[in-house]
Amino acid sequence: MKYKRILLKLSGESLMGNKQFGIDHDRLTEYAAAIKEVAAMGVEVAIVIGGGNIFRGIQAAEGGMDRVQGDYMGMLATVINSMALQSSLEKAGVETRLQSAIKMEQICEPFIRRKAVRHLEKNRVVIFGAGTGNPYFTTDTAATLRAIEIEADVVLKGTRVDGIYTADPEKDKTATKYDTISFEEVYSKGLEVMDMTAFTLCKENKLPIIVFDMNKKGNLKRLVEGEKVGTLVEF
Ligand code: GTP
Repeated sequence: MKYKRILLKLSGESLMGNKQFGIDHDRLTEYAAAIKEVAAMGVEVAIVIGGGNIFRGIQAAEGGMDRVQGDYMGMLATVINSMALQSSLEKAGVETRLQSAIKMEQICEPFIRRKAVRHLEKNRVVIFGAGTGNPYFTTDTAATLRAIEIEADVVLKGTRVDGIYTADPEKDKTATKYDTISFEEVYSKGLEVMDMTAFTLCKENKLPIIVFDMNKKGNLKRLVEGEKVGTLVEF
């Protein structure tokens, strides 16, 4: 296999499936099966999930709520999603550990880097909840930060689209997909892969990113086996 240790970033919205809000059980079960498949291959899997299906700090701030308060609420939303995924993974027979950037001893372990790495070495899927634990940072940044800390080989950003396009494919029919693209090109063309904080963190730490469609069955497995799936951002 191509990647031994991966950090999988899932958006909160992707957990909604076809629902307007919350968590879709079938979607969760599909994700758990896909993750189980790669964990069974011996791939060490760490996961960061967003919280946008439950609460969005930025939108709440636009509506007049205090930004910091909104961001903390968003972090709690990621813990709810993490617990849901943990539950479905365990139902599928996958050993998991959930660590939170904000202490919630009754629910999960606190984030301790060394412990997380030990869990991974024992082939436990580790889910990191509560983002970075700080307001003003996205879960993409949390994913990147954790990936660097645990020395993951790659950040896999699971999305609704199957990669990075020359323009927004939902608006521009002539847009074409990149198989690979350099960090510099993403900057110079003003393409959106992750927010700038997350993206720059990847670049400065030489951490490749793959943007791919997580909803297509088998994609995650193909990816870790080294097949060209989605778009690879490299150097
Ligand atoms: P090893 O030390 O490698 O055996 O890892 P382990 O996770 O099995 O050991 P530990 O005894 O630390 O954890 C046993 C269980 O308790 C696991 O399910 C952990 O997720 C859980 N656990 C550990 N620390 C905490 C905590 O602070 N809060 C909560 N809620 N659970 C915890």
